[in-house]
Amino acid sequence: MDLIEAIKSRKSVRGFKPAPVPKEIISEILTVSVRAPSGDNCQPWEFMVLGGSALEDLNTALREQFNAGAAPHPDFIRKPFTGVYRNRARELNTELFRLLDISREDSQKKKLWTLKMLGAYDAPNLILIYTDAEALGLSRVMFGIGALSQNIALAALHFGLGTCLLGAVTNYPEVVREMIGIPQSKIIAIGIGIGYPDWDFPANRLQSAREPIENITTWIGV
Ligand SMILES: Cc1cc2nc3c(=O)[nH]c(=O)nc-3n(C[C@H](O)[C@H](O)[C@H](O)COP(=O)(O)O)c2cc1C
Repeated sequence: MDLIEAIKSRKSVRGFKPAPVPKEIISEILTVSVRAPSGDNCQPWEFMVLGGSALEDLNTALREQFNAGAAPHPDFIRKPFTGVYRNRARELNTELFRLLDISREDSQKKKLWTLKMLGAYDAPNLILIYTDAEALGLSRVMFGIGALSQNIALAALHFGLGTCLLGAVTNYPEVVREMIGIPQSKIIAIGIGIGYPDWDFPANRLQSAREPIENITTWIGV
């Protein structure tokens, strides 16, 4: 696939077919994706790749936290959105819920959708990326893992796969660390659900908006 076409066509996939992704394919995706740039080539990433009953167990544990009313407390703290950022997030969720036929008042359906998200939208595989933020500092970690994550999402397209970055699976990091055997010293940066997209699933019709670059770019001397 042409590079520009790949960047344009990548989108978050929130409905998957059950077939697991062969280990060799995930391995190839990770092998190319770690060509991502990172500060001084520090490569601030490590992976846990889950599938089968290991992933089901993690999904169940995360859902139990949510059902018990535990407040999300990711290692990378997320501030509540304000201003234009809140507007963009609202626009996204309004369109998503419209496609899913979830009304604003329907708290039961919203809850079910959150539970689905905590189960990586039923993706057959989950790539957990964890890192040593203590040693590296936030900026090296986030630039590196940002670039890496985009590589994973783009490389997945080459194999007919879809991905969704999932901050949600980092909501209860101590649960993930304990179940998966990630050292206490490492923090969970992001999860990436990966699998073969179910293009009939309504949420996969979502085409998220972007601010036109005229609104966000100043040209100087160009
Ligand atoms: C750091 C990060 C965390 C995200 N976490 C979630 C998540 O928990 N649940 C979800 O449905 N999408 C999540 N997303 C996907 C974004 O909602 C999505 O990238 C954005 O709406 C733009 O849509 P697109 O990916 O389809 O272009 C996350 C994306 C990023 C970069």
